[in-house]
Amino acid sequence: MTIPSKPEYVGVIRLTVSAIANRMGFDIEEIEDIKVAVAEGCTNAIKHGLDKNFYVNFLVSRSSLSILIKDDGKGCNPSQIQEPDLLNPKEGGLGLFIVRSLMDEVEFTSEEGSGSIVKMTKHLGDDI
Ligand SMILES: Nc1ncnc2c1ncn2[C@@H]1O[C@H](COP(=O)(O)OP(=O)(O)O)[C@@H](O)[C@H]1O
Ligand SMILES: [Mg+2]
Repeated sequence: MTIPSKPEYVGVIRLTVSAIANRMGFDIEEIEDIKVAVAEGCTNAIKHGLDKNFYVNFLVSRSSLSILIKDDGKGCNPSQIQEPDLLNPKEGGLGLFIVRSLMDEVEFTSEEGSGSIVKMTKHLGDDI
């Protein structure tokens, strides 16, 4: 999907991923986690990407759902992203941390000047 880089479209992606995850058999809690993670990824593509559009791919397999969010925006140097200090919480800087804690696998690739990709995966039937 090619999505306009506007915050009002995040809800559309949340609804879409929720419908796909529901159809695949994820439970309500897992679907909530996927929705939150995907919304953070989209918000980053909009807020930090600073391009006209961003792109979302849904990769459905029998055992997992992967969501790939890509922008052709300004990118960043991933090694310079600071881990949040949870003992001294401040506003912002939690998005990627939240994505990593809610999803089973997360890959974030970015380069200054050439955009970013975040790929997040949730496995089906991983009872905790
Ligand atoms: N799509 C993106 N394009 C460019 N930089 C990004 C992108 N996603 C994340 N980043 C970088 O990673 C940092 C951490 O992201 P995040 O944890 O979501 O915190 P926040 O969005 O509140 O700054 C951002 O401040 C930004 O520098
Ligand atoms: Mg963010």
